[in-house]
Amino acid sequence: MLKRGYFNELAPRWDSLPALPGAEEKVARFVRRAVETEDRRVLDVGAGTGILLPHLLAASVPCIVELDFAERMLEAGRAKAGGGRVEPVCGDACRLPLRPGSFDAVLCFGVLPHLGPAGDALAGLLPAARAGGTLAVGHLLGSSELNAFHSAMSGPVAGDCLRPARETAAILQSLGAAVLACEEEPGWYFVRVRR
Ligand SMILES: C[S@@+](CC[C@H](N)C(=O)[O-])C[C@H]1O[C@@H](n2cnc3c(N)ncnc32)[C@H](O)[C@@H]1O
Repeated sequence: MLKRGYFNELAPRWDSLPALPGAEEKVARFVRRAVETEDRRVLDVGAGTGILLPHLLAASVPCIVELDFAERMLEAGRAKAGGGRVEPVCGDACRLPLRPGSFDAVLCFGVLPHLGPAGDALAGLLPAARAGGTLAVGHLLGSSELNAFHSAMSGPVAGDCLRPARETAAILQSLGAAVLACEEEPGWYFVRVRR
């Protein structure tokens, strides 16, 4: 579990790392586009310290499951969790410790490249959404920007790779989902499907 150790070690510093330009507005846009007003249960995969949480809470989502395999990430984010609506779950997104079909929306923000082959990861994550529920993948960089960033790093995330949005959308389509959005440009990556 090299990656888990890597993210645990990063956790205390995660929120003070320099933010990408426009990050706050783009995170808000991701949540606005990925979550519907009637969504009651939302899964935040690879939640980290809860970058999405303030926006999910502001959107009045009644139940938010924050899933991460790095317990120190979840601990560092605990202060952002409000009012009993947030359930932190320490577990592996590649072996989801959650009941299938139990979420209205599954959010994968800044995590997919870290989960191994995208087809395997998405085949495991899509069933977490109920029939008619949604899954969204988002990043603050386009795939080539993010891949260049990762390959310039050393350590266990150096080879992690995000496929272009159209390929991610095609994988999800091949898994039986309907594509609602497929957008990629410098500084933005957004794929959303309905199961
Ligand atoms: C790049 S960080 C992004 C965190 C957060 N979503 C954000 O944007 O600030 C990736 C997160 O995914 C988590 N992660 C990576 N692989 C995972 C896995 N197999 N299962 C669960 N969490 C994982 C890491 O621990 C880390 O918190």
